[in-house]
Amino acid sequence: MVQNIYAGTSENILKAARLIKEGKLVAFPTDTVYGLGANALDAAAVASIFSAKGRPRFDPLISHVGGIDWLQSLAHTDSRVMDLARRFWPGPLTFVLKRKETLATLDLVCSGLPHIAVRMPNHPVALALIQAAQTPIAAPSANKFKSISPTTAAHVSESLGDKVPMILDGGACAIGVETTIIDLTTPDIVILRAGGLSKETIEDFTGEKVYMAQGDPNRPSSPGQLLRHYAPQKPVRINALPDSIQPDEFYIGFGGSQGAGLDLSPSGSTEEAAARLFAYLRLAESDAGTAKIAVAPIPCTGLGLAVNDRLKRASYVE
Ligand code: TXA
Ligand code: MG
Repeated sequence: MVQNIYAGTSENILKAARLIKEGKLVAFPTDTVYGLGANALDAAAVASIFSAKGRPRFDPLISHVGGIDWLQSLAHTDSRVMDLARRFWPGPLTFVLKRKETLATLDLVCSGLPHIAVRMPNHPVALALIQAAQTPIAAPSANKFKSISPTTAAHVSESLGDKVPMILDGGACAIGVETTIIDLTTPDIVILRAGGLSKETIEDFTGEKVYMAQGDPNRPSSPGQLLRHYAPQKPVRINALPDSIQPDEFYIGFGGSQGAGLDLSPSGSTEEAAARLFAYLRLAESDAGTAKIAVAPIPCTGLGLAVNDRLKRASYVE
């Protein structure tokens, strides 16, 4: 284990902000998952995120801001954008917007696209870091490309080790799956990636139908939404019922499944299942007694949409 985990104290946050300003990488906690951050306006620093993760450069990054009023400097906004920001920021919602043409330094963050993904995380350590660094911080999840996203500082250290000089520890992430990404560049709101804010919650607020990009060829889609992603080193079988479990399978249950080694939520809560999903996949992956993982069916409502999206990608066979 590399000794690069630091408690999220004010002193360490200031140290981390200095590293960001010097173009270095810092891993930090958010409300959703841990991020691997660099100054979004420093192309060389952003390039080092791609190499530390082993991530292809066509997969753009989310820029994290320290306040709603930072939006205007990065992207074009309108009243729909601002209303959503005032309602859901800080929180688990990322906007895709038209970016400001003047900011060529954002080319790498945006993978050359005319659009930028922006969010304001709801975590005191993340917000203090961004505000102290006084710059938007580009951050993907702090794990190796395609592997399971980290929800604790220890997960980051296991995955990236000494590739990141500093990991700020802010405890386990409360939400546990990545943000919901919505495209706000078209008249309809389109979900590019299901995540920590449910489709129903957005629809209740806007009073409009929200569309899903996935599976609809007429809807814009998000680059980097790979079929195989979030994947453990063992094969994963989804929608597995208790009476189908084989002796070589580690069974992750839901809602009190018979014979489960771990249960994502004995009471059947999709929020609880989202919060535990990645940690339980890691535990199942490291179980020495089994060669495969089987996961019980999870309802597609609330955060179940994001949980099922991640499980489908984790189980995809290339
Ligand atoms: O919860 C989260 O969103 C975490 C934490 C660290 O904030 N971040 C995260 O980042 O999940 P990442 O890099 O794993 O996912 C970013 C995804 C890209 O793969 C792409 O699908 C979408 O965001 N994205 C980024 N910029 C985009 C753009 N300009 N247009 C469309 N999609 C974009
Ligand atoms: Mg990721």
